[in-house]
Amino acid sequence: MLQLTHVSKLFNPGTTDEKVALMDINLHLEPGDFVTVIGSNGAGKSTLMNIISGGMKPDAGKVLIDGSEVQNLPEFRRSRWIGRVFQDPMAGTAPRMTIEENLAMAYNRGKKRGLRFGVNAAKRSMFREQLSRLGIGLENRLRAKVGLLSGGERQALSLLMATFTEPQILLLDEHTAALDPARAELITRLTEEIIRELSLTTLMVTHNMEQAIRLGNRLIMMDKGRIVLDIPRERKQDLTVERLLGEFEQISGHKLTDDRIVLG
Ligand SMILES: Nc1ncnc2c1ncn2[C@@H]1O[C@H](COP(=O)(O)OP(=O)(O)OP(=O)(O)O)[C@@H](O)[C@H]1O
Ligand SMILES: [Mg+2]
Repeated sequence: MLQLTHVSKLFNPGTTDEKVALMDINLHLEPGDFVTVIGSNGAGKSTLMNIISGGMKPDAGKVLIDGSEVQNLPEFRRSRWIGRVFQDPMAGTAPRMTIEENLAMAYNRGKKRGLRFGVNAAKRSMFREQLSRLGIGLENRLRAKVGLLSGGERQALSLLMATFTEPQILLLDEHTAALDPARAELITRLTEEIIRELSLTTLMVTHNMEQAIRLGNRLIMMDKGRIVLDIPRERKQDLTVERLLGEFEQISGHKLTDDRIVLG
């Protein structure tokens, strides 16, 4: 489904600011894999997401989706296959547009033609139905400007926009980190439901260790641009936060330092 082979990314090469963001990453996701990703600040997690989505090009290595090389395709050409939700609730939606216009834009993502923001009655009713599944009343606010929504509402909308066209791959980069605990829990629950329902192949970066263990069927730990541990479902079931952090420390030689870490 998704395959990265020998992917490396260096920032500011040859300068004193040189930074290895990814070093020889090899990763293979099967269809329906739901992989949680943890690692210290600067470990390369967001860079990995950017390289998969096409926001950045790797210096070396290949990215394959369903067997086709995509590392040279620009982001908009990959967007048909990839849904993404960012940490910042402001990042995934257009604030001056209405909820239905945002949904129409997401609906047409990656398509060549069509009225980008056009909303007809059939679409409106489909959007309303999709929104009502979030269970937070957004279906009654189709013409509200997205800039007026709370952070949690915007993340719920972003999640819907990223997934309702059933992408091949869903990328979540700490998408609950900017929310208060109650809203974060809501978004986590919606995330689980949508992924399960659509069997989406998912990579989810999280700062929440309990979630990293509980969600998904596989857990990846990154450190200094490398994948240092890849824990399959069977081993994940027996993990505790304490054991997970212990393993991280043992392998990397230092404590996991994440300024947004939540232990559970
Ligand atoms: N555009 C850029 N230019 C220069 N350096 C960058 C750029 N993007 C990332 N880096 C550097 O690459 C390294 C990996 O960054 P990345 O954002 O992938 O880490 P991360 O694991 O997502 O960290 P965090 O937990 O803080 O979000 C860091 O040292 C970072 O400073
Ligand atoms: Mg990051």
